[in-house]
Amino acid sequence: MTVNVGFIGAGNIAQYHSKSLKASGADAAWSGVYDTDADRTARFAAASGAVACESADEVIERSDAVYVCTWTSEHEPNVLKVAEAGRAVFCEKPLGTDLTSATRIVEAVETAGVINQVGLVLRNSPVFHLLRHLIHLEEAGPAMSVIFRDDQFLPVQGRYGSTWRSDVDKAGAGVLIEHSIHDIDLLEWMYGSIAAVSAEASYVHGIEGIEDVISVNMSFESGVVGTMVSVWHEMLDRVSNRHVEVFNERLWARLRGEWSGDVTWTIHDAVHGSRNSSLQGQELMDFAASVSPGSGENPDANFIAAIAGPRAAYPSLRTALRAHEIVDACYLSAATGGRIEVGSDYGRTHG
Ligand SMILES: NC(=O)c1ccc[n+]([C@@H]2O[C@H](COP(=O)([O-])OP(=O)(O)OC[C@H]3O[C@@H](n4cnc5c(N)ncnc54)[C@H](O)[C@@H]3O)[C@@H](O)[C@H]2O)c1
Repeated sequence: MTVNVGFIGAGNIAQYHSKSLKASGADAAWSGVYDTDADRTARFAAASGAVACESADEVIERSDAVYVCTWTSEHEPNVLKVAEAGRAVFCEKPLGTDLTSATRIVEAVETAGVINQVGLVLRNSPVFHLLRHLIHLEEAGPAMSVIFRDDQFLPVQGRYGSTWRSDVDKAGAGVLIEHSIHDIDLLEWMYGSIAAVSAEASYVHGIEGIEDVISVNMSFESGVVGTMVSVWHEMLDRVSNRHVEVFNERLWARLRGEWSGDVTWTIHDAVHGSRNSSLQGQELMDFAASVSPGSGENPDANFIAAIAGPRAAYPSLRTALRAHEIVDACYLSAATGGRIEVGSDYGRTHG
């Protein structure tokens, strides 16, 4: 079955998904594209072969599945339209500008019963699959701590050139919701539920409502404790950069990069002492795929496969809602100076 795929929003990430889908060889046809910027609609249509549409409704009408890749504040109205029309939907992260909007979006797709997937694409990243594999090795002993650092240049310039990221009404807030919601999601994916957070934010660039540094201390239900620091700086040749260090009782591991590495680690046992290993590039990707299902898979091809067959779309919008809960708790903590419990009922009491 050929899946007719449409795009609402034709900016950077829409182009990324379109190219990734094409490269995957998935059985898809480019049915339509609409961006409020007519030049972008035209350029995307010319590059992809999609019909340049006059409205989001026209894209939806022509499509079996729709990517919603507008800036964040426009996700909710568009996802609701797609869901009401009964089409499958891929929504970029963050789902909405806050937890309330994200909750309405998830309720809408679940009420409509449509296939849905979110752009938390690092859940397919080989480096993170490998790190998760290592921290769960029996010989590594119990997990103890994680230090997660994320940095990129303030993305209102350079290859992003997206001024909406400095507009709190369009973006919701700054580096945490816009960028490090990925990291929050990865941390729970690796270590299980976060029980509590305390956070501090700062605004070095002086943009209203847009924090450019956030530091989060977190404790997990398992007893693991961690720290995440995320920074938007001014070094335009330094693109998105993740650096993670973890300790188990008998494991130290360090991850650098976002997809193919490197990952370096030491495992200690009484018989052999410390054994050191390091992997990067293709070797890392091959090894991660052999120990962790889903590693390195193309999320766009998987979305199309979920529409065409019995495979579940992953990760779902509900997965992202949990990350929104943690993000919301971090902002609440930064605003009030307290430690915030993030139990499983957090969304019902705060969303
Ligand atoms: N998953 C990821 O790793 C990742 C990476 C980058 C961006 N994103 C997310 O994707 C979204 C878009 O980011 P981007 O980098 O592509 O931004 P961008 O500025 O390059 O593109 C956004 C586009 O949306 C269009 N738009 C705004 N309102 C619209 C509407 N109502 N209808 C149609 N088009 C509309 C704008 O004209 C613009 O072309 C954001 O929510 C962002 O957080 C996710």
